[in-house]
Amino acid sequence: MCGIVGYVGPKSTLDVLLGGLRRLEYRGYDSAGVSVISAAGLETRKKAGKLDNLVGEIDSHPLPAAHIGIGHTRWATHGAPTDGNAHPHLGGSALKLSLIHNGIIENFAELKAELVADGVSFSSETDSEVAAHHIAREYEKSGDLVAAFRFVMNRLHGAFTILVIHEDQPDVVLAARRNAPLVIGLGDGENFLGSDVAAFVEYTKRAVSVGQDEIVVLKADSVTVYGFDGQPVSFDEFSVDWDASAASKGGWSSFMAKEIADQPQAVGDTLMGRLSADGVVTLPEMSGLSAADIKALDRIIIVACGTASYAGDIAKYGIEKWSRIPVQVELSHEFRYRSPIVTPNTLVVAISQSGETMDTLMATRYAKELGAKVLAICNTQGATLARESDAVIYTHAGPEVAVASTKALTAQITAGYLLGLFLGQVRGVVPASELKALGLDLLKMPARVAEVLEGLDVASDLGAAMANAKSILFLGRNVGFPVAMEGALKLKELAYIHAEGFAAGELKHGPIALIEEGQPVIVIVPSPRDAESLQPKVISNIQEIRARGAKVIAIAEEGDPNVADYAEHVIYVPQTEPMFAAILTVIPLQAFAMALSTAKGLDVDQPRNLAKSVTVE
Ligand code: F6R
Repeated sequence: MCGIVGYVGPKSTLDVLLGGLRRLEYRGYDSAGVSVISAAGLETRKKAGKLDNLVGEIDSHPLPAAHIGIGHTRWATHGAPTDGNAHPHLGGSALKLSLIHNGIIENFAELKAELVADGVSFSSETDSEVAAHHIAREYEKSGDLVAAFRFVMNRLHGAFTILVIHEDQPDVVLAARRNAPLVIGLGDGENFLGSDVAAFVEYTKRAVSVGQDEIVVLKADSVTVYGFDGQPVSFDEFSVDWDASAASKGGWSSFMAKEIADQPQAVGDTLMGRLSADGVVTLPEMSGLSAADIKALDRIIIVACGTASYAGDIAKYGIEKWSRIPVQVELSHEFRYRSPIVTPNTLVVAISQSGETMDTLMATRYAKELGAKVLAICNTQGATLARESDAVIYTHAGPEVAVASTKALTAQITAGYLLGLFLGQVRGVVPASELKALGLDLLKMPARVAEVLEGLDVASDLGAAMANAKSILFLGRNVGFPVAMEGALKLKELAYIHAEGFAAGELKHGPIALIEEGQPVIVIVPSPRDAESLQPKVISNIQEIRARGAKVIAIAEEGDPNVADYAEHVIYVPQTEPMFAAILTVIPLQAFAMALSTAKGLDVDQPRNLAKSVTVE
């Protein structure tokens, strides 16, 4: 949560900061602020609410031209989203130091008490302001800003990315990171800092991911990195494979609309180079595990949160079927705080779009402590999860800016299928010809996703027509069950209405009591083509709820003759291997939620109370 940007160089600092904040606003939008240092000294503007409020504030109170500055967009933790709690926070007797912070300083009360005892007064309720005053006071004592910064960083507990500038040192931005993301952008005669590469990808593709407990001294013509112990640290550059245009709306009404439309490419790019024309999967990312290691695996535990956990739930069906390895899917925050059974032969797979979700990072660290190998399925280059895992399968969905995950999900499911097929190939428990046939079918997925997009109007029109619904239920079975839960999650977060996804077989065990006259229910209907198809059972469930007044919208595969008679509306998706159907059936649910939210006049890209990247536990 919270987006951070820093810049030093010849460009208009305000343009770089505001552009970076615009691209990072998905990380939090409770308030925004910037500080710059010009010949006249340090100046700060900040405002509660979205970035546009800050832009309005700067229009009314312009900032001078400057070549160094920091900017912040906030997701509130300590203190309400007010102007006073907005970052930057100033520190020191003459308020010459400016600081921005992402994370939570857990020992802030104790650090604050020291300052209060010395008569320091505060202008906010934040934990961050405490750090600003401590660094400024240490600097006033020693005259060495880097040493003062390092001293205070070593005193902080918790999670933080902190950036600081000081009026007396107008050529340097200092930054530090512990348990929160920070990336450097390397330019020519200029350098950048950001919570992720989106902050500066418009200007440079050369990036460095800052390690845990490291300090960056950023000047226009140099970048130096130290450990919290003061020892210099070497760093490796990587090249950002996102295009600046990929992080812009490109003419779409919202990022979410664009990202839904990006899905054929996201799925195709995730398959690219990993699935041969004859259906065989190669995953060089897995080279750290030998065939003997894979054969010895006793279980796979998938850890993830929210939508990413539903990708895990969906992948589980395929992985177990093709590799015969038991798979359990756990919410990261639940896994971390119990005593899971993990052995050296357990593979923990962490799924995360951002690679910065603190719950998932804590779960993977715990899994490593317990002796498991950790494989990440991650969408963000240089993310902490990727750095800390033994292996990474990158999803190539490109930057996902809308808070509600869409293309990252379908790319994660794709990566999960690839993993399942790969493990199946190595373990040889299912005939190779069967796996190849599945691989060949998976190759057709980008084209099928494109077909689903062409027919999305039906789902969008239904969503728009249901703007007044108070509650919508979702039912699914087998891979359709996690799809139902994802459909409900999208609706909750985007339209703020009650929505729940159930396993269709579970209905009669309680939830059917919710059904009353007119209750809308969206049912993900399994294919009838599968020999073991569960379709007749799901159709029985539909009849049970219709008999009690439910209005049913069914999602079914093209050519299915059985559903139309039992539903008010049917949304058809192309035929595919039943195991892969989740990638297709989830897309109409994304469009449905987006349309319903839009019809209610809500902001689909930035739903209330949420942030894209949840970097606190
Ligand atoms: C919902 C959504 C969230 C994320 C979850 C995990 O639309 O986006 O539920 O899926 O916060 O985020 P990552 O994948 O970044 O770990």
